[in-house]
Amino acid sequence: MSVEGRARPVTAPGLRRLKEKGRRIVALTAYDALFARLQDQAGVDLILVGDSVGMVYGGRSDTLAVTVEQMVYHTACVRRGVERALVVTDMPFLSVQGDPHEAIKACGRMLAEGGAQAVKVEGCAAVEETIRRVVDCGIPVMGHLGLVPQSIHRLGGYGQRGRSGDEAARLLEDAHRLEAAGCFSLVLEKVEPDLAGRITRELAIPTIGIGSGPDCDGQVLVNADMLGLYEEIQPAFVRRFAELAGQVRGAVGAYADAVREGRFPGPGEL
Ligand code: KIV
Repeated sequence: MSVEGRARPVTAPGLRRLKEKGRRIVALTAYDALFARLQDQAGVDLILVGDSVGMVYGGRSDTLAVTVEQMVYHTACVRRGVERALVVTDMPFLSVQGDPHEAIKACGRMLAEGGAQAVKVEGCAAVEETIRRVVDCGIPVMGHLGLVPQSIHRLGGYGQRGRSGDEAARLLEDAHRLEAAGCFSLVLEKVEPDLAGRITRELAIPTIGIGSGPDCDGQVLVNADMLGLYEEIQPAFVRRFAELAGQVRGAVGAYADAVREGRFPGPGEL
């Protein structure tokens, strides 16, 4: 707590201290001020403005069409709702894989225009050098390994990663390379759980798991998944802590009935 009694804002270096203290990190995605505010008030440590926005709110079947411009917009919306949590923005497909100068500018926009405090970048080999340069410019970078949705067409599906010896060895090596490149944290998505545990033990930076078992330093979920709002894809690793889709349909149906039957507005609802 700060002197005023308000919870101290979470920082990128602060996440590492949580790992050192053995305190698990709570992360959730958000894309707008409304949910970001509720999640921040509920004590979430890290809010990820994920490019999953393209699927969950954009209705697409993958994340590939999301643009830098859209991520700046969603980040600025989230930022306005958050006081304590660390706001991290996903860098969209192909926004950081080309000219490093353009990559730095795109990452910088997330902080300067969107108000993010860090960016997240998928993969390793194609972005490792750029990550070094982005970090050198003062922008904290979170890595993302395992099932990297922007490479869905190369991977061929949403299955677990790191099951074969070769792939496990490569993921372990990539995790160390991303730490050496300066990442402050690493998302491990659908990584075989024993491997995720090993990566977590070997790295000094915190790992945030999604579908990678209990041995990561923290967990992240898509907010609409864990709230039971997104019904199109329901992965086995998602626990639904609420069933809001049914509640929304129920409430909207009740409103529609009340309007049609002349019961809304009633006396006093003027
Ligand atoms: O885009 C996203 O929401 C993500 C998380 C699922 C880790 O990358």
